[in-house]
Amino acid sequence: METRVHEIADGVYRLSTFVPDVSPEGFTFNQFLIDADEPMLFHCGQRMLFPAVSAAVGKVMPVERLRWIGFGHVEADESGSMNQWLAAAPKATVVHGVLACDVSLNDLADRPPRPLADGEVLDLGGKRMRWLDTPHVPHGWEAGCFYEETAGTFFCGDLLTHVGDPSPLTSDDVLGAAVAADEMFGAMSLAPGSGAMLRRLAELAPRTLALMHGSSFAGDGAGALRGLADYCDSRRLA
Ligand SMILES: [Fe+2]
Ligand SMILES: [Fe+2]
Repeated sequence: METRVHEIADGVYRLSTFVPDVSPEGFTFNQFLIDADEPMLFHCGQRMLFPAVSAAVGKVMPVERLRWIGFGHVEADESGSMNQWLAAAPKATVVHGVLACDVSLNDLADRPPRPLADGEVLDLGGKRMRWLDTPHVPHGWEAGCFYEETAGTFFCGDLLTHVGDPSPLTSDDVLGAAVAADEMFGAMSLAPGSGAMLRRLAELAPRTLALMHGSSFAGDGAGALRGLADYCDSRRLA
């Protein structure tokens, strides 16, 4: 299994592994390496991906330089290899919202995690990662996202997930492919506040969307998030 590396924004590297047997068109699992004084990995990948993903990190910087390990919710592709990363990077600390730390990570992580309050900024030195609680969006009570303030990159996790092995970064519409994927997977939690939450996220007006599954997107991120909100509302009310 090969993990490909592509810089999608200044100092933000997409590490992408294509797995052909997830969906008829296959599926990408993407992690993001954020280069800064205190480098951060966003998404760990499943345990089986660790050899390929850690080799990909090693093409950009020594794995031991990692200072922060983040992810959007507790799930195998988001957090499965968390403890392998903690072992490989002795100075690294897991970082997540308060709820995930209290409910799961204080127990699951081999070293104590660093909890972040909603809206709190983790200053990496050159990059500023603002944590946003997004309970049940896309799924999981503990869910949240990071927004990098200096360049307007929104690390949106499973939001706008789409299948296949598309280009690392696109300005083409990703909403249509995301709606098609969700109609297949049903992965979006359709909580009463999901649409409103996505519209609040759209107010960030991100320049780049760093997607966990599919192409990253450069363009009208707010429009894509509002479109996803409309889709969630229409499904919930159907
Ligand atoms: Fe997920
Ligand atoms: Fe995911």
